[in-house]
Amino acid sequence: MQTNTMKPYAIISLIALLVAAATGSLLRFGLFLGMPDWAQNYLAVRHAHSHLMYFGWGTLGIMALLWQWLPRLSGRPLPHGVYWQMGATAILALLSFPAFWSNGYGPTRIGALMLPLGSIVSGLSGLTWLFFIFLYVRATWGLPIRPLAVQLWDWAIALLLLACFGVIGLMATILGEHPSFFLHQAMLHLFLDIFAVGWFGMALLGLAWAWIGGRASTPGWLPTGSLALALAPTFFLGMPPALVPPAVYAVAVAANLATALLLGWHGWMLWQRRAFLPALVQFGLWTLAVHVLIGVILLWPGLWQWASATQLRVFFLHNLLLGWLSSVLLGLIVAQWLTITTEARQILVTLWIGGVAVMLIALLGLGLAGIVPISTLLWLRVAAWSSLPLVGVSLIVTVVATRKEVGRTVSPSYTAEARVETPG
Ligand code: HEM
Repeated sequence: MQTNTMKPYAIISLIALLVAAATGSLLRFGLFLGMPDWAQNYLAVRHAHSHLMYFGWGTLGIMALLWQWLPRLSGRPLPHGVYWQMGATAILALLSFPAFWSNGYGPTRIGALMLPLGSIVSGLSGLTWLFFIFLYVRATWGLPIRPLAVQLWDWAIALLLLACFGVIGLMATILGEHPSFFLHQAMLHLFLDIFAVGWFGMALLGLAWAWIGGRASTPGWLPTGSLALALAPTFFLGMPPALVPPAVYAVAVAANLATALLLGWHGWMLWQRRAFLPALVQFGLWTLAVHVLIGVILLWPGLWQWASATQLRVFFLHNLLLGWLSSVLLGLIVAQWLTITTEARQILVTLWIGGVAVMLIALLGLGLAGIVPISTLLWLRVAAWSSLPLVGVSLIVTVVATRKEVGRTVSPSYTAEARVETPG
């Protein structure tokens, strides 16, 4: 019988989602009403929001589901040390919020000392991820058969390692005596973009395929290593265009197209099996389709350079992180750990999908402000109000998840056959 060993960490990830979503909502209202006195440093609060989302929600939530489902796929128990690793990852993720709140990556006064708290917490978080990687490698070393989900997690973890180099490089450029703007931007995007598209994206695909498990047939071949290799150079597209040499841009844009097509292949295969996926995961597949479409239209000459000067980056980021990552993760966490009535589930799903869809439309409107003849203020208001149902859903799901339940053990329906999958 499967126990809910990872549920406490899933609850912490939901708390992180709630706090970070409420902070995002504060920022959204702050953009047209002004920020309150107790949150004057807009950029620092934005860092607090994004880092708690990355470290506390995305990373911790993915790790909780991965550790929960891995033993069934590998046929091995969880390795010793997992609870230490999850505890350390959770504590540092929660600490990132106050660490970034007052001054972002800049120094904060603690008594007589000026300490770069954001950098310190990021660095320590990175160490707990290295611990996670070590435990994962030990837990899956020499598996005679690597199921599709495990293969996707292998590559997700390779990309997490690459993103960790970005964190180390970023800290070095911040703490160094002669910071180079090029290196700072390269390291920042190696971390942020590979973390988001690479670690989150591939780990999430692994979770979705793990959920499908033995419920439906798995395709004979799906991209795993090829997807990770295509993904790696795409972070250059996150950098300011003036810093990226034309040859590097050509490689990055070709890699971005390949990534889009390979992700689209996964998305299409999952869509064909949508009857076995929670409604929020199905919705996430639509936003993945938008992400794939963006990868294709970025080929249009001059479009990337033009878009970089607009607010479209915020739309792009939130389509990926709110639409795709958060919808899928929330859908799987709810399906795994929450007991709620069908009606309550439908209300939560409708509120979430409605809030995300309206917010993404408003962010697209803001990004296209120079072209679409609708006032920026109206889009800002719509984006702000649409954030409230998302905060509400996060709150309800967190409260329901903390209720004590008796004997609930839903999990992906793994069967012996489901473990026997062809390598991709
Ligand atoms: C709950 C809904 C959300 C709201 C209301 C929200 C709101 C915001 C706002 C207002 C900004 C600043 C935009 C600007 O300055 O123009 C922002 C930036 C950002 N958000 Fe969110 N967000 C949400 C969800 C998420 C999620 C789920 C993630 C990641 C998992 C995320 C990651 C980011 C990142 C990486 C940035 C950019 C930070 C930077 O450039 O320093 N957000 N968000």
